[in-house]
Amino acid sequence: MTIIADPEQHRRIGERALNRTHAFGKLILFGEHFVVYKVPALVGAVTAYTDCECEVIDVSEAGQDDSLKPGVTVIDNRPAVPNYKVKKQAEADEAIGLVLKHFGLDTENRFHVKLVFGGDLTCASGIGASAAQVVALARALKYELPREMTEDEINQAGYEGEKGYHGTPSGIDNTAATFGGLLKFQRTDGAPIFDKKRIKEPIRIVYASTGITASTTKVVGDVRAKKDADPDWFDGLLRKYVDLVGQAEQAIDDGDLEMLGKLLDENHSLCQDLTVSCKELDDLVVAARDAGATGAKMSGTGRGGLMLALTPTEDVQNKVAEALAKLAPQVWKTALK
Ligand code: MEV
Repeated sequence: MTIIADPEQHRRIGERALNRTHAFGKLILFGEHFVVYKVPALVGAVTAYTDCECEVIDVSEAGQDDSLKPGVTVIDNRPAVPNYKVKKQAEADEAIGLVLKHFGLDTENRFHVKLVFGGDLTCASGIGASAAQVVALARALKYELPREMTEDEINQAGYEGEKGYHGTPSGIDNTAATFGGLLKFQRTDGAPIFDKKRIKEPIRIVYASTGITASTTKVVGDVRAKKDADPDWFDGLLRKYVDLVGQAEQAIDDGDLEMLGKLLDENHSLCQDLTVSCKELDDLVVAARDAGATGAKMSGTGRGGLMLALTPTEDVQNKVAEALAKLAPQVWKTALK
């Protein structure tokens, strides 16, 4: 266990470690909700990231400040849409606790853990902010403990943390946060299967927030209840989706953005059928298409959160971003690589 008493030294080590604790936000291109049921999905990491500075203090050791008790102190400097952090506070605390427990850190009796989260990823429903937070924490612990950790172990720790945000995560968000790039991801009964896709050119995207923070636990639970109540209805949608994601992978391999856009539109319709879209998302999707996007859809949990638009050129990207800015409280441009 590294215990750093000198705050100046800690600051310097923290700054060095920060560069290595980046965990990315993500946008699901194809397959939110369906991915929970073990079919393939396509997800792209955005360039924005969360990072974490961490100090682990063994308060039982002689010479420690007597006033320091076991526990966790969190300073959360991440930018966020209004209300996001307040609404997610209890889940974030649970998620952090699960990652610390995963690494055997007993913060009830022995350790005090100080955490500072930052980075340029704006926390909003749909962008994978929770996964980026727990993966950044796992990365920070790798340097603070210090301990050898493979990327797969970091991803696994992120998955454990994600359970605090929503009980039965598919693992897609933490995998994108850990590995970055454009991934084909599939949950299985064991370890997930994922592959990094080679893409011909960076894929320009505009994404916009509705400003509404959704509960993933609730929306995933609602979808499950609907599936259980009417399995045939759900199976019909799932079959259509599986066909669609196969075509989407082919379109990415071919660099066919026209086709990719059309398929994104179709995935949005399936999300509407699944009842996870909402008026605010639908309005943004229509506005993006009207402004020249090749395709647009909601992304992530839905019922609020985010939508994304495929914009093949810089000019179209700017026009779509301008059009969305008239309706959405936050709009971002990114490129999936
Ligand atoms: C959330 O980003 C994506 C969902 O499919 C849930 C999950 O995959 O765990 C809604």
